[in-house]
Parts: sequence; structure tokens; C-alpha cells
Amino acid sequence: MKALLLAGGKGSRLQPLTNRLPKPMVPIMGKPLLERTIANLKKSKIKEIVLSTCYQSNYIKEYFADGSQFDIKINYISEDIPLGTGGAIKNAEKYFDDTFIVLNSDILTDINIDQLIKYHKSKSALATIVVTNVKNPSQYGVIEYDQEDYITSFKEKPQPHEITSNYINAGVYVFEPQIFKEIPANRVVSIEKETYPMLLRKGYKVAAYKNDAYWLDIGTPEKYIAAHKDIMTGLCKIFNDSIEESYSFIGNLMLKGKNIRIHPEAKIIGPVYIGDNVSIEANAFVGPNVVIGDGSYIGMESRIIGSILWDSVQVNRGVKLINTVVVSNCRIGGNKEIFNTVYTQDSNRMIAV
Ligand code: GDD
Ligand code: MG
Repeated sequence: MKALLLAGGKGSRLQPLTNRLPKPMVPIMGKPLLERTIANLKKSKIKEIVLSTCYQSNYIKEYFADGSQFDIKINYISEDIPLGTGGAIKNAEKYFDDTFIVLNSDILTDINIDQLIKYHKSKSALATIVVTNVKNPSQYGVIEYDQEDYITSFKEKPQPHEITSNYINAGVYVFEPQIFKEIPANRVVSIEKETYPMLLRKGYKVAAYKNDAYWLDIGTPEKYIAAHKDIMTGLCKIFNDSIEESYSFIGNLMLKGKNIRIHPEAKIIGPVYIGDNVSIEANAFVGPNVVIGDGSYIGMESRIIGSILWDSVQVNRGVKLINTVVVSNCRIGGNKEIFNTVYTQDSNRMIAV
């Protein structure tokens, strides 16, 4: 079976994390989110994927190439102007002549795709939409369904008074290829605003798949930090059964392995993830809920709590980082104390707490 990944969005709400890279490429524990999604797809019957890209598509292509390095076949469709989610799906028609999967590529989930496909087949539906329960549904596609779990209503980003359910579109779908007949070609189409309500009006069977998988959209820096915490505390199980990665665990310290140097007088409180070639100096205090990317340096007497450091970050003596994301290659010195911030070379942004 094949999957289509929608990876053409701009990622403006994640800025400045997405100033220099497309949203699906933000690192999650040292690897692009898209790579994490592909690894999850590979656990099921998916052998080939189509990446539908638009903004900064070269960045994605250069990283994944034809997929052989990731043991999966990858095809690309690149839009010059964004076609919307439905337009991007229609544009990929030639690749799909059987039941297929579609995923938004800004979500982190450990959903079992084989079980989803099995469910879809059992419902004899044109489409199955994975749903998840959230506290505040207003920023999502809100879904109502009947007693047999067939969808009766789909409202994309409804006004507060229109919210009638806490179940939302998780951005993971199973489609029968007949869906292509219902999406117009050569124009912008939103699958959420246009196609789903139309399918329901026409009386097509669209099933809702409820499940208890972990799900989070990495739409904002706050959620980006939350996702890491959820992985490190085991709530999100993307590392389970992973064949490609081997980590060593010392209690709840997760060590990627090569050439890690931790001074005996440094204090590390897990959960903490430490990448390759990291040095942590004496009397540094690191953790809990900290990710330190490859090649980073943590100076003496620094203090790092609840923060995500990308690769090759240099934290000099006495610096304090709390609930902060630091992008690759930044150097922080001068006894700075940085709280609740996305820290980049170009601009910083406060994080809501
Ligand atoms: N190729 C392509 N072209 N991809 C696109 C385009 C486009 O024009 N527009 C958006 N995408 C991709 C984005 O990269 C993202 O992976 C996915 O489609 C969804 O777009 P977002 O812009 O992230 O939408 P959203 O987060 O506001 O809402 C969507 O996701 C929610 C779950 O996170 C909707 O599907 C909601 O219904 C859903 O609840
Ligand atoms: Mg999104």
C-alpha cells in the first residue's frame, strides 16, 4: 500500500523555528518530524510514499532523495503555487489506483496504520478519517458521527458557538481511489472545507476512526516542546519497535551513543536525551525534560531545564535556559538567563506559558 504526505504548508505559526527549514523538517529528538512519520508508516504495509511539497521543497528532496537510504520508495510532487490540501491530493492521482493513506505532515502520532486500514475495510467507506479528542477544537476540523461511527458533520475551524463535539480531524485518512472523481482538478481545493462536507451531502460513507494513539499537531513552539516531553516520558511511543535506532538507557537518560562526554561533577536529571558528540562540563545542571542535539557543548555551571537544543549549540559558562528552544549553531554566552523563548540566529520569540 502507498501513502501520500501533505507537506506543502508554510508553518507560519511555528516561526521562527521554520525561518530556515520547512515545518515537516523540524527535528523531533534529533530527526525530522517527517522521518519519524515515515518510520511509523514503515511499521505497517506501506512500501512507497508520495511527498507533496511546495514551500522549500528542495530542502525536503535533498534530505530524503529517492528514499533508498530510508528503505522506502519516495516520489515527489512539487507545487509552484499551493493547491490546498484537496488540490494536492488530486494532483497525486496518477500514483494511486488502490486504497491509500493520506497524512498531514505536521502531526506527531504513533498510530497503528495496519489497524486503521483494517477498520477502514470493515466500514466499506469511501474515506475513513482518524479522529482524536481535544479540549479546544476551534483550530481544527470538528467532526460529528452517528452510533455506527459514520461521520454526519465536518466543520473546519468552526466559530465557538458552532462547536458541537470534541472530536476533531487528526489529519490521517484512508481513501478509496474513487475519491479522485469528487475533487476538481487544476484549482485550489480544501479537502476539509470543500470536499468532506460535499461527500457527506452526497451521502457517501465516511467513517470516523476513534483510537487511543498519541496525537499532537506540532503547530506552535509550545506544542513543539510538549511533544518532546511526551516522548521522553513515554506518553508518545514513537521509539517502540524502532529498528533503525538504538539508544542506550541509563534510568531515564536516553543516550544516542557516540562520543558523549559528561563531567563526573555535572548533574543530569532525566528524562534527558543526549545526541552524539556532546560535552557537558563540571557543575552543569541538566534536566529534567531536556534534549541536547548532536555536537552541542554545555559549559560549566550552566543550568538547562525543559529545553530543546538542536545540533551544534554552544552554551557557555553560567548560562540558564528554561523552557526554551535553541536552533542549530547558536552560541549563547555572557551568563544569559533565557526563559520561555525560541532562540535563533535571526530573531527570538517568547513562548506562552
Ligand atoms: N502540498 C500541499 N499544498 N500541502 C499543503 C497545502 C498545499 O497547498 N496546504 C497545506 N498543506 C499541508 C500542510 O503542510 C500540512 O501538513 C497539512 O497539509 C495541513 O495543513 P495545515 O495548514 O497544517 O492545516 P491546519 O493545521 O490548519 O488544519 C489541518 O490539520 C488539523 C490537524 O492538525 C486540517 O486538516 C484540520 O481539519 C485538522 O484538524
Ligand atoms: Mg497543521
